[in-house]
Amino acid sequence: MEKTTSTAQEVFELLKAQHEHIREMLAQVMDTTGAARDSAFGALERFLALHQAAEETFIHSHEDSPVSQERVHEEEKAGQLMARLEAMDTATEAFENALAKFAASMMVHMEAEEYEELPELTRNASPQALGRMYNALERVPELAKQKGGRLEAGAIFASMLAYAKAEFSTLPSQ
Ligand SMILES: [Fe+2]
Ligand SMILES: [Fe+2]
Repeated sequence: MEKTTSTAQEVFELLKAQHEHIREMLAQVMDTTGAARDSAFGALERFLALHQAAEETFIHSHEDSPVSQERVHEEEKAGQLMARLEAMDTATEAFENALAKFAASMMVHMEAEEYEELPELTRNASPQALGRMYNALERVPELAKQKGGRLEAGAIFASMLAYAKAEFSTLPSQ
């Protein structure tokens, strides 16, 4: 449900829950094979594109802070790694090795968001600004479930991200 205000704790819990979901999705890609793996990878890409777009639009841009700039930089690198993974055959060991590296860097990135960036950004944020962060994150699973469009399987991560950013740019930022 749309919130006009929120608290730092609520935003933290929602972010942490999404990170947990990303961890599970990464494990699912690792633990499956064949068509199940391809479908798990597509689901991971969709969720990650939306999560990243919500963060870039409402969290990393909240303050001009070095700790947020580092997170944006890590997300750019994650996008590049995604493009490499997309070009690989998911049945190969090379894919599994690259995915393991991607997962490891994603764990570091998510912990930095939870324990370094978010506490710093939310310390002085208004309840309204926290409400906007909360609402944006809450849209992520909703949009991930939508069928059709550019987020569906077959689209590349870069175009999913562009679509996701366009979606989040329509939410009020002030
Ligand atoms: Fe992120
Ligand atoms: Fe995140």
